Amino acid sequence: MQKIEVKVPAVPQGSYTIAIGADFLDSIIAQIKTLLRDKPLFILTDTNVAKAGHLEKLTAGTKIPCHIITPPGEISKHIATVTKIIEQMEKEALGRDCAVIALGGGTAGDIAGFVAAIYKRGVPVVHIPTTTVSQADSSIGGKTGVDSSISKNAYGAFYHPSAVFIDVATLKTLDEKQFNSGLVESIKHALIADADYFDYLTKNLEDIIARKYEPLEYIARQNCRIKAAVVEEDPCEKNKRRMLNYGHTIGHAVESASEYKLSHGQAVAIGIIAANIIEQKLGIDSKKRLDELKQLFGKLNINLQVPANIKTGELLDIISRDKKAVNKWPRFVLLEKTGKVLCKDGQWACQIEQKIVREAIDILLKQQF
Ligand SMILES: NC(=O)c1ccc[n+]([C@@H]2O[C@H](COP(=O)([O-])OP(=O)(O)OC[C@H]3O[C@@H](n4cnc5c(N)ncnc54)[C@H](O)[C@@H]3O)[C@@H](O)[C@H]2O)c1
Ligand SMILES: [Zn+2]
Repeated sequence: MQKIEVKVPAVPQGSYTIAIGADFLDSIIAQIKTLLRDKPLFILTDTNVAKAGHLEKLTAGTKIPCHIITPPGEISKHIATVTKIIEQMEKEALGRDCAVIALGGGTAGDIAGFVAAIYKRGVPVVHIPTTTVSQADSSIGGKTGVDSSISKNAYGAFYHPSAVFIDVATLKTLDEKQFNSGLVESIKHALIADADYFDYLTKNLEDIIARKYEPLEYIARQNCRIKAAVVEEDPCEKNKRRMLNYGHTIGHAVESASEYKLSHGQAVAIGIIAANIIEQKLGIDSKKRLDELKQLFGKLNINLQVPANIKTGELLDIISRDKKAVNKWPRFVLLEKTGKVLCKDGQWACQIEQKIVREAIDILLKQQF
């Protein structure tokens, strides 16, 4: 097992540890008990994670109160679930001295983090992520929240965990589509921060897809190192943290226009291709990278075709309403080269004329890349 220290400036706990290993789920409760000095624990998970046997392995015969989110997935990521969980915790007579454990993907993690942030004005949360998305992304960085009927993550808080335990063996039970599309966030991390890591992904993708423990642990370490470094510098997303949005501005627009029929990973893969087209239009040499990306996404069976009913105007309209837009137009994160984000005048997201984005989207929709 390897450990990475994450410093969190300006929060009381200061830092937390991410433990990464394979097949150590049954040792985690003992580690949490030591870390949190025997605080009463409350586990949040969902039906699929429980059915896959991970809850049983984690608790290993110990009796810990638990809420199993039903149905699993985004559909339950709303405020009524939070209310239900909080009332169950009250019925269990859990006080301010308790701690919440999130066992599951980004949905369980985002809900658990938010519950922990607000329960009795805040109790510790420990993340045990079980998807490629949550191991690479959502369990690190402290963003928590649930959706409203109008928008994603409308209720939320920045709330950092007390510890994260990444057991890559839990990924064995994840279905192929979820597993593969979650790897897009790993590709994104490599693109923005580390050309060697990108090279590793292109050379070792077959072993990663085969879910061999060693490459899975390797990518978990790289993802945590990269995300933690960015979050440490800019915990509240004032500037540098925006680089984590690479591929996400157009990606989110495509995801939303598809009414969430496209998975987040697929939409971000399409957004990464769109960013590459913009880079080429600006004269940044990114054609070789485009070919490498098409190969990587192809091996992951990720379809880069935007559904035919989605038109350029609709995407531009959604982009203009992006939550980071100023004067109805957001900035775009672009790469200077593989492993390095373009930084202009100290800004990690650049102003790009609407005309260029329109032309790039036209190329994207016509699949002329
Ligand atoms: N907080 C952040 O910084 C951040 C970052 C990225 C994404 N997110 C959020 O994360 C959510 C998506 O996370 P996700 O992709 O992990 O989805 P998810 O948590 O909904 O999990 C996907 C599906 O896999 C199942 N599952 C989870 N682990 C499993 C396992 N080991 N074996 C079998 N089945 C398993 C779940 O029950 C679910 O049906 C979104 O709500 C997104 O907004 C948050
Ligand atoms: Zn993402």
